[in-house]
Amino acid sequence: MEITSTRYVAALAPQLLGLLVTSIIIYALARLPSYYQKIQLWRKYCSSHIKFSREAGQGKYLWLEDPWSKSRNYWLCKHVAIKHVFSRSAIQETDHRAGFDWFHFAGWEIPTTDNRYKKTVRTADSTVHRELAKSKLSSLLDSVRRVGFSEIDRYKTAVGKEGKHVSLHTLMYRLGYNVNCIGIFGPDLDHVKTRVILQNFTEHQHMMFHCFNWPLPLWLTSRVVPGARKTVKARVELFNQLLEWYNAGGVATASSEMQAVVKVFEDAGTSPDIGSKFMNMMMIAFLANTPETLGWLFTHLVQSPKLLEKVRAECDAVGDVEPTAPFLKLTPHLYSALFETCRLYVFTGTPATVVKPTRLPGMGDHLFLPGDILHSMGQSAAFDVDVYGEDAKFWKGHRFVGEGESLLKYDLTFGIGRSPCPGRNFAIAELCLIATRMVQTFDFADPMITERLRFDDPDFIVRKPMPEKTVDIIDLDGKVYRVIHPGNGSDQGPPGMTAANTPACDFACKLTPRE
Ligand code: HEM
Repeated sequence: MEITSTRYVAALAPQLLGLLVTSIIIYALARLPSYYQKIQLWRKYCSSHIKFSREAGQGKYLWLEDPWSKSRNYWLCKHVAIKHVFSRSAIQETDHRAGFDWFHFAGWEIPTTDNRYKKTVRTADSTVHRELAKSKLSSLLDSVRRVGFSEIDRYKTAVGKEGKHVSLHTLMYRLGYNVNCIGIFGPDLDHVKTRVILQNFTEHQHMMFHCFNWPLPLWLTSRVVPGARKTVKARVELFNQLLEWYNAGGVATASSEMQAVVKVFEDAGTSPDIGSKFMNMMMIAFLANTPETLGWLFTHLVQSPKLLEKVRAECDAVGDVEPTAPFLKLTPHLYSALFETCRLYVFTGTPATVVKPTRLPGMGDHLFLPGDILHSMGQSAAFDVDVYGEDAKFWKGHRFVGEGESLLKYDLTFGIGRSPCPGRNFAIAELCLIATRMVQTFDFADPMITERLRFDDPDFIVRKPMPEKTVDIIDLDGKVYRVIHPGNGSDQGPPGMTAANTPACDFACKLTPRE
């Protein structure tokens, strides 16, 4: 009897195999057009974020779907859909916590789901939010002022009375980094060493973060994919620096905000390596976006002479301004130029997970299903003509002045709704403060594009001139001008999770102290 059934199955095996193969072929053929379309969109995106984002901003594409990911990952392109997903009204439809927990675990090995540490990590998260609340910022901003102004004095001495060409984008990056690193972590964490490591991390991070979506284990991708390997290497180096700093008692000279976060881990009796992983994640949040934004702001401001004149008059009028001053009112053109820079150079994609079948405004009839992961493609939302009008593709520093001020409510730079950036008030105040001081202190002339400084190069060197790219901007007189541009370093490859765009070359100019 047994022999008969075995023979029967053996006789049927070729038919079963044939059926299986045919089903696979039919399945694959049925999906081929949509797969082909996804790859085409993806290829287009990867060849240039800017070009793709412009098309998407004009409404051609509703989303970018990742053809390789294990769950359905959508990068939403329309402003109205992104705003909805992150707003409080979508609370029944999308969940943010899952994405954050996964992101923190996969990116920094923070044990977000391990019951032994879960509560401590949550308390540390809310401590960061509490410590960075607007009402508590004055001591942190005082350190920013002290460190920032002494850095600017150092630049003044270095360029001398006659002035000197400097790699301005890099110098502004370093200014922003030093201010935050020394201001938040205190003087005992090596700000040059950590900056070099963090720049190596951010340079490659988009590849590691993208691997999170692949149907492959992280231990494999982080060893095999070159960008992911480099990011992990930098993460380990930064972790070692932080642990060394902690063990040497560096926290004693850190800001009270940082001490409060460390105390959460100490009070819970957690081993220092868990706290260091958390601080490692915070290094990116605290230190990566602000400096790059400052670099891009000056690249454009220096080349908008009429706007710069206006900004200079505003900055001179405020004189020795308090760090907690209302910059929107006191220096409206500078404030606007800063947000215009963020609009075009900061792209964010912290994911939300769909928990209930839902349709999204601006996304037609598509029904998003539980488990779908939604990212905001901030860059194409920034080019959305429905929001910003036909001139959305230009950097227009005075966009948010006067009547334009109402457009600030569409800003997505710092996230919105349920999980905005807890450091946003601090970031805006410090950026306005430092930029004001720079404009009060220096004249800027003779812009040029040069090879980018290496991360470990000294501050005041300029590398060899590079072929110039150009970009059209709108100056205060409303006219379009063609100006030079260093190119976008992060304008290719898959989308990052959260970062400011990096330049491909350096923007250099002559910096001369004003009389
Ligand atoms: C121009 C500068 C900055 C930009 C554009 C920026 C933007 C963002 C965005 C978009 C998020 C994610 C929000 C979400 O989708 O849930 C975020 C998270 C965060 N930001 Fe900022 N931020 C900046 C500066 C800062 C600064 C200066 C600090 C602290 C001093 C800070 C602290 C944080 C923290 C702690 C988080 C949560 C990070 C996490 O849990 O993964 N940010 N930021």
